[in-house]
Amino acid sequence: MRRTLFAGAAALLAAAGTFTFVLTRAEAATQTLQSLAAANGRYFGSATDNPELTDTAYTAILGGGEFGQTTPGNSMKWDTTEPTRNAFSFTKGDAVVTFAQAHNMKVRGHTLLWHNQLPGWVSQLPATEVQAAMENHITAVATHFRGKVFAWDVVNEPFNDDGTFRSTSPFYAAMGTDYIAAAFRTARAADPDAKLYINDYNTDGLGAKADAMYNLVKTLKSQGVPIDGVGFQAHLAIQYGFPSQMQQNLQRFADLGVDVAITELDVRMVLPRDSTKDATQATYYSNVVKACVAVTRCVGITIWDYTDKYSWVPSTFSGQGAALPWDENLQQKPTAYNAIVTALGGTVSSPSPSVSSASPSPSRSVSPSPSASSSPPPAGSCTATYKIVGSWPGGFQGEVNVTGKTGWTVTWTFANGQTISQLWGGTVTQSGASVTVKPASWNATPPATFGFLASWNGTNAIPAVSCS
Ligand code: G3I
Repeated sequence: MRRTLFAGAAALLAAAGTFTFVLTRAEAATQTLQSLAAANGRYFGSATDNPELTDTAYTAILGGGEFGQTTPGNSMKWDTTEPTRNAFSFTKGDAVVTFAQAHNMKVRGHTLLWHNQLPGWVSQLPATEVQAAMENHITAVATHFRGKVFAWDVVNEPFNDDGTFRSTSPFYAAMGTDYIAAAFRTARAADPDAKLYINDYNTDGLGAKADAMYNLVKTLKSQGVPIDGVGFQAHLAIQYGFPSQMQQNLQRFADLGVDVAITELDVRMVLPRDSTKDATQATYYSNVVKACVAVTRCVGITIWDYTDKYSWVPSTFSGQGAALPWDENLQQKPTAYNAIVTALGGTVSSPSPSVSSASPSPSRSVSPSPSASSSPPPAGSCTATYKIVGSWPGGFQGEVNVTGKTGWTVTWTFANGQTISQLWGGTVTQSGASVTVKPASWNATPPATFGFLASWNGTNAIPAVSCS
């Protein structure tokens, strides 16, 4: 009956010349971020939290088909699940699981072990009791949610921003780095079917912290520790630039034999919003999604809640926000939303904003400077292009792009006393003013990029760079 009515209406509309429009609307109704991600073999999800599950306008969108996955923002953390030693509470986590199951969403468990949101009793434990408490916690929580979560962030945020281990973690303080392997082994024993992840922020692009994570995962794999994936939180900010070489970074982790996932994506800005900031934000969303789609082992993308109404950003970064694809009135932002749709291979009903590649820029950008340019190298040789992507009093971030042969060596001589303090994507030797950079093993085949931080004073001339 319905089908007949529809066919009749379609014929009438076709006669009136509006048939194409009706089909487009019907298509739009079934195209969601999740359906597009699924067509790419991935999931698209949103974090959520218990307080907002009482907001029916909010849950209508959360469970309305846009998202095929959710992560509880707080309700599976230690302070919620075991506020008192050995007294567990799963009510809040269960509520998120129940919502997800009712709306065809799978659940990432977050998180078994984190230095934050710990109840006071954990921090007060004598060192000799930490391992037992940790293993007891992981076992109880992972056992309770077994079969209900497809993945766990087992260890969350083990590193400081410079790539050193976070020594303020009570687990690190008591056990050193051994706590990480022990946590994974305990989680595997409690839930053999869940994918076990390590998860961190500011590891999204190449850099010292990503290198530290890379080396840790490589070591854990070589020791037979049951780690299945690496989560890249991707809490980005347009004023700090897009992470350097995100796709290549995800790929090098995947090449270690682990899955990768974008676990907490949001793109904040200094308020107020304007169309220029929205457009930049859209390029960031687009670039992250494209990076994930380009890496076969990138299994999915989760935004850290879908609406500015419930974003963590404004309460943490004063004067910043507007980080999500839906605004605080639960309205889609066409710029960000359409950029995600397009990056997932979908079509948008109105022209989408032009989305170009955001170039990496430094976290303390002042003004990009010109780079030395060159034409393609002849076969068997290579060319390097040096540029300053940002500078601030006393310091700057440089980047060198290499084309040509595999197994390159780049050299230059600084003219103004610049000194490199940190380099990623390669190994550096600086002797006086002379700099030699050789590629990291995963970065030997061009096009390759490495970046560095260095000091400068007075003048910061672009050196002549050689590649051999
Ligand atoms: O539960 C208390 C409530 O009793 C109290 O009245 C209220 C007053 O401030 O605070 C409530 O706790 C808040 C908690 O969220 C639950 O809503 C905390 O203050 C607040 O700091 C906490 O923020 C969470 C944050 O982690 C804590 O670091 C955010 O919601 C959560 O989205 C955020 O998520 C983290 C990831 O787990 C790890 N990666 C970074 C990400 C963003 O910080």
